[in-house]
Amino acid sequence: MNDGECAAFLQWALPRIDLRWAGFRKVRRQVCRRLHRRVAELGLDGLAAYRARLEADPPEWAVFDTMCRITISRFHRDRGVFEAVRREVLPDVAARAQAEGRAAEAWSAGCASGEEAYTVRVLWDLEVVPGAPLNVLATDVDPAMIARARQACYAPGSLRELPPGLVERAFERRGREACLKPEHRAGVDFAAQDLRAAMPERAFDLILCRYLAFTYFAEPLQRRVLAALVERLRPGGWLVIGTHERLPETPELEAVSPQVFKRVPSPLAGEGGARREATGG
Ligand SMILES: C[S@@+](CC[C@H](N)C(=O)[O-])C[C@H]1O[C@@H](n2cnc3c(N)ncnc32)[C@H](O)[C@@H]1O
Repeated sequence: MNDGECAAFLQWALPRIDLRWAGFRKVRRQVCRRLHRRVAELGLDGLAAYRARLEADPPEWAVFDTMCRITISRFHRDRGVFEAVRREVLPDVAARAQAEGRAAEAWSAGCASGEEAYTVRVLWDLEVVPGAPLNVLATDVDPAMIARARQACYAPGSLRELPPGLVERAFERRGREACLKPEHRAGVDFAAQDLRAAMPERAFDLILCRYLAFTYFAEPLQRRVLAALVERLRPGGWLVIGTHERLPETPELEAVSPQVFKRVPSPLAGEGGARREATGG
């Protein structure tokens, strides 16, 4: 299977599972390698035969779907974005939570091995409001990613965007890996969840949804996911996306920068404009 054949196959197949070719174009080789292995595993002689297999055997689409998971992540990925999170977002989140006498709540949707969720925790603990209560929920469709996230040990390359001072303070060496100190793992919970099928039923001060929905999902699905994310943001809460992503238009969000959005207080907020704690925590 050559690159052109694989690209043509993906342009046919991705929209059929609500994904979009534009998101996969640059990372297609990863998916193509998995396709190559799957075609061999099934004893087929190429992508035309695999396409016929998908058309004849609907459960195979779920297998193809798992081949389309791109799991690249790093701590402090997109430094400028996390700089804004540290400088502007987290102090605002902390002030609101403190004023309301509750813990702050953050969600990393599509968390890979936990790098993004733990980055928030480390910035909060070491740079913003040491000791203030913060709960971070991190979800990913892939249970293997969740298991790795719970280990919280990383190859040095995963830490290359994190300021060196923070690496020294937040991690301890274990052989070739750097493991997050237990105090920065506290309050970070992981769950396997498919963003297309389920979302946490509670309200958040901060949602990070980066390099998942707004990169790989087809636009109608992006709009549905965005509406559900906005519903889970407290009024005044923050949504953060990736540097290479653009959000569909949403009147409920004000762009503070191209990656950082704030939910504008809704006139109905006092009557349940955002999901309230009472909806199930
Ligand atoms: C490219 S990583 C992004 C990780 C992190 N958000 C970041 O920006 O560094 C995308 C993650 O989304 C997960 N993912 C893919 N499809 C998903 C879905 N439908 N629901 C939840 N997670 C999904 C993948 O397993 C992968 O770990």
